[in-house]
Amino acid sequence: MQSIAIVNQKGGVGKTTITLGIAEAAAASGNRVLVVDLDPQANASSGLGIWNGSPSIDDVMSEPRAGSAAEAICSSRWPEEQSRPDLIPGSHLLANREAQLAADPVGAQDRLQLALAGIDYDLVIIDCPPSLGLLSINGLFAAERTVIVTEPAAWAADGVDLMHNTVERVAGRLGRPKLAGIVVNRVGRTRDNRYWCEQLQERFNGLLLPQIQLRAAVAEASGQSTTLRALGKRPGAAEAASQFDALWGSLNSRPGLDVIDEHLDELPHSSTTITSET
Ligand SMILES: Nc1ncnc2c1ncn2[C@@H]1O[C@H](COP(=O)(O)OP(=O)(O)OP(=O)(O)O)[C@@H](O)[C@H]1O
Ligand SMILES: [Mg+2]
Repeated sequence: MQSIAIVNQKGGVGKTTITLGIAEAAAASGNRVLVVDLDPQANASSGLGIWNGSPSIDDVMSEPRAGSAAEAICSSRWPEEQSRPDLIPGSHLLANREAQLAADPVGAQDRLQLALAGIDYDLVIIDCPPSLGLLSINGLFAAERTVIVTEPAAWAADGVDLMHNTVERVAGRLGRPKLAGIVVNRVGRTRDNRYWCEQLQERFNGLLLPQIQLRAAVAEASGQSTTLRALGKRPGAAEAASQFDALWGSLNSRPGLDVIDEHLDELPHSSTTITSET
């Protein structure tokens, strides 16, 4: 079994989209996939056709109990039965749960890890919320590898650095997660996009995974709680699906870097004074 946390404290960069895209690619290639929706917004659950699922991830996080995640697993509602991921549904109640986790005198960073003990899937993929709080930390504690998602926009590199520091702190304690890499999502054709892509390339060369282009079909698939494959001949759907296949293939072919090796520190640091040419 492999487990991957999809992270960035920055909102709206595409964490949920990448989670769903990888889940689709992995399931389509015959893997048994479990999506864990660790975000109070529960967008991954909606993308998989589940609203107000109960029991939910909030029940799982409410107490430290080994294997408790099994009780919250449901089947998603994607169209193709044979390649349908399972889901631990998100819940808006999670927003309040974080305060309770913070008050646990023993520490609550490993509740999800504990809850997933004994769970048997080929891939467990965890969609984390846009914050560096205890929910995302639970995602990192529970995962063998992490993917940082970003977009070709101003300050993206600084956001990745911040996220990477947090990953590094967790890995310093546990020896994992490894950094599987960085995905640049929503890559468009504007000069501005090209400029920021080049900046990310320069800064994170070697850590970048196959990128995902900006395409209406990508937003449509999750908005319609379906897969890119099910969108059929919709322009861009097949191309987007093959980009996610390439991303999944790349994740399979590289084991991930030990973040405690401090690979990023060997790279030149991003400048906050960079300005776009366009
Ligand atoms: N490659 C893409 N092409 C087109 N639209 C995209 C793409 N990636 C993401 N989007 C759209 O951008 C919006 C934000 O994406 P998404 O919800 O995946 O980001 P997020 O990082 O999970 O957000 P949050 O931080 O709120 O959880 C959504 O409307 C989504 O459909
Ligand atoms: Mg999200």
